[in-house]
Amino acid sequence: MPSLLQFHSDSVKFQQSKFLVTGGAGFIGSHIVDYLMQNNAAEVVVIDNLSEGYKDNIVHWLNNPRFKFIDGDICNYDTVKLAMQGIDYVSHQAALGSVPRSIKDPISTNKANVSGFLNVLNAAREANVKRMVFASSSSVYGDSPVLPKVENQIGQPLSPYAVSKRVNELYADVFYKTYGMEVIGLRYFNIFGPRQNPDGPYAAVVPLFIRSILNDEPPFINGDGGQTRDFTFVENAVQANIRALFTSHPDAAGKIYNVAVGERVSILEMYQILRDFSGRGVEPNHRASREGDIRDSLANISLAKNLLGYDPEVKMREGLQRTLNATQLKHGMA
Ligand SMILES: NC(=O)c1ccc[n+]([C@@H]2O[C@H](COP(=O)([O-])OP(=O)(O)OC[C@H]3O[C@@H](n4cnc5c(N)ncnc54)[C@H](O)[C@@H]3O)[C@@H](O)[C@H]2O)c1
Repeated sequence: MPSLLQFHSDSVKFQQSKFLVTGGAGFIGSHIVDYLMQNNAAEVVVIDNLSEGYKDNIVHWLNNPRFKFIDGDICNYDTVKLAMQGIDYVSHQAALGSVPRSIKDPISTNKANVSGFLNVLNAAREANVKRMVFASSSSVYGDSPVLPKVENQIGQPLSPYAVSKRVNELYADVFYKTYGMEVIGLRYFNIFGPRQNPDGPYAAVVPLFIRSILNDEPPFINGDGGQTRDFTFVENAVQANIRALFTSHPDAAGKIYNVAVGERVSILEMYQILRDFSGRGVEPNHRASREGDIRDSLANISLAKNLLGYDPEVKMREGLQRTLNATQLKHGMA
């Protein structure tokens, strides 16, 4: 990520602040870490148990005196309390992602995503942090057919993962109202970009498609591929986090915001765009639709625009091109 990006306005305040990024060795968390370090934050602490993340994602900061890595589990309250010492701002990204994983193993998902979340939230409260921003998910919209998705119109969750993220939002609301704690939730819509992992049974669709294309192998498409998503480049998610941490809008705290681009594309169309960009790729194979998946997803992002000043600068096509380029570069194929 280029260092000239700046989504905060008060550089002095920013450079005097200490940040904790939970899940900072993961895909989105490591991009947030890059932003904080590149913009000279006073200190950046990462807590990550490396269950899904990689030290490789943050290896370029490990020897920097402003950076501290804690190989620890957010389910351990003492570890979280220790990580929280002297912290001004918290960006909470640690969680077990994936709807199918949560259907297979709801206990682990609940432990990391609910108990772990509550540990981070309560330790942040006890440490009097200035603000905590956390990753929620568009899965919270569940069975609601309303399109585009507006924050206050949700349906019933369709998976344990969606339940866990909804519980995060409820706890955040209660901590805001009960303790006056400044908490902001971001409902991410299908974030993609460099470093997203194509390995493992719960890999996301964009890195899987890119790997298939680069290996000249047919990818699997769940169902007919006509399901739509509001694919969001990771740089936009970083921007949303930074703007949420630093907005001075008096009504911003205690709310949940959609983080997306506000455009949708079908899975089949997305695969075709990647094929066009790469000039390769074979016909996909179709298989059964996935349990717990929603058919269509598209966000209304007016609230984040109005209260956070969020402006998703990177549209889906540019994001796909950048992700493809970065993957090719990583594999010496550029
Ligand atoms: N990627 C998306 O499209 C998307 C969409 C909606 C919501 N989210 C949410 O955004 C956040 C970041 O997602 P990501 O895509 O970067 O996933 P990721 O798996 O790459 O990152 C999550 C990180 O959290 C760490 N972690 C998991 N359990 C932990 C624990 N108990 N203690 C300490 N660390 C732990 C993992 O090792 C990993 O590094 C998650 O909360 C996820 O649920 C992501």
